[in-house]
Amino acid sequence: MHIDKLERNWAGVALGIAGVFVSAILGSALLHGIHAPSNVETIDSAKLHLSKEFAEDKLGASRNPDGSVTVRMVAGRYGFFPKTLTVPAETPITFRWVSLDVIHGVHMPMTNMSTMIVPGYVAQVKTELHHTGDYPLLCNEYCGMGHAHMWSNIKVVGKAEWDALAKQGGEQHG
Ligand code: CUA
Repeated sequence: MHIDKLERNWAGVALGIAGVFVSAILGSALLHGIHAPSNVETIDSAKLHLSKEFAEDKLGASRNPDGSVTVRMVAGRYGFFPKTLTVPAETPITFRWVSLDVIHGVHMPMTNMSTMIVPGYVAQVKTELHHTGDYPLLCNEYCGMGHAHMWSNIKVVGKAEWDALAKQGGEQHG
């Protein structure tokens, strides 16, 4: 079979471009610690208020016996609840998300905290935040007219400061 030299060259260019894109995806996934949401854990989205884990008074950040922190939040049109949250830096954090209505996404800019929140499932992201400061939590899946206004605030403070706040119990610390 004869393939024209020019055609072969261009086929090579096309394959090369595809290769560049695939390596860019793989490279950025490895570099930024991005992992596909693979936590297959189901929950009844209509009964979150009755669930053990996602009832209103259970939401927020809480310290586990091993020193790590678990954050439980609910996404619904159009907000993340609780609306503000304080978490410690340099601490393993497990974020657990549920939706009470449609598909939402949550993204914390400049970090690898990003996942889709599908109703009926618990989305889970394990991470560690290295920089203190105020971050927005933004919805990044179109979920309706109020999508652009769906956000929440998260404040990352030093470990010691967080422990002091937790003792006061003034803020959302579960
Ligand atoms: Cu929630 Cu977009």
